[in-house]
Amino acid sequence: MKRNLLWALLALLLLSACAAGREPEEPSGPPLITIGLSQIGAESDWRVANSESMKEAFTEENGYRLLFDDARQMQENQITAVRKFIQQRVDYIVLMPISETGWEGVLQEARNAGIPVILADRMVDAELEGLYAAHIGSDFRAEGELAVRWMEERYQDAEGPVNIIHIQGTYGSTAQLGRTAALEAAVERNGNWNLLAQLDGDFTQAKTYEVMRDCLDNLPVGQGIDIVYCENDNEAFGAIQALEERGYVLGEDGVAVISFDATRNGLRSCMEGKIALVVECDPLLGPLAARVIQGMERGEPPEEHYYAQERIFTPDMLTEELIQAREY
Ligand code: AHR
Repeated sequence: MKRNLLWALLALLLLSACAAGREPEEPSGPPLITIGLSQIGAESDWRVANSESMKEAFTEENGYRLLFDDARQMQENQITAVRKFIQQRVDYIVLMPISETGWEGVLQEARNAGIPVILADRMVDAELEGLYAAHIGSDFRAEGELAVRWMEERYQDAEGPVNIIHIQGTYGSTAQLGRTAALEAAVERNGNWNLLAQLDGDFTQAKTYEVMRDCLDNLPVGQGIDIVYCENDNEAFGAIQALEERGYVLGEDGVAVISFDATRNGLRSCMEGKIALVVECDPLLGPLAARVIQGMERGEPPEEHYYAQERIFTPDMLTEELIQAREY
């Protein structure tokens, strides 16, 4: 808003200089909007696509100066980055919070400095409402519900126990909390669903491979596994590697691996029958973040949440063309 006024003032000065017969000094364009962006890290293919989408949206040609900080998976690094953005007096802060707790102090500081914060991807504690201008991202509980509904249908006639291994994402993150809550509620209501193990995969392929390998090596001999519920594609890749190395059969007649994200590689694994179900999670949030900021520049109050529309994929839905056309 302030920037628009400044720009109008400059144009006015230019006109009066012309009228006075002086050689006008040409303004080079409206001032850039400075965005301080705190990204979690690069733990997954999804995250890399998310960073790319932000960088493509907040370019100088589009009218922005982007200060991008990669926190390398540490909340303290994110808090330090946000404090630095406040000192630098950026116009907006875009924050992807690694977990939901621990943000009150720094969000209050941004508020005191009059810098609007847009949360992207994940959320912060519900009681911090009012300390951020808007949130754009996924409804992770709804994603989890899509997965468990598919599982309930597929195993509705199962006579014996349905044995599940659950690989969780980064503890305390909105993505983990929502996807875990959906599974745990489904385990509660389906008497024959049996949670064999809950493991911390931290949304990475390497960690999941390790925890899955150890888990499989310690299962009682002959223990059947029906489902491995992974909270993202990279976890699914790590779990698949561990399962295949130990001779497990995947797919229709074997272990059903469930995943979230629907990256190109995730969809390819699904088309090959290694992943039974992928729930989409849209990382391409840059254009929407820019639209929200443009609206705020025009003085339009943003909505509190903007949720992406997401769907599921099973092997029969996939073709090479569809995978190639995928943007991430
Ligand atoms: O918060 C979104 C999740 O974080 C994605 O599912 C995952 O891949 C990422 O690391």
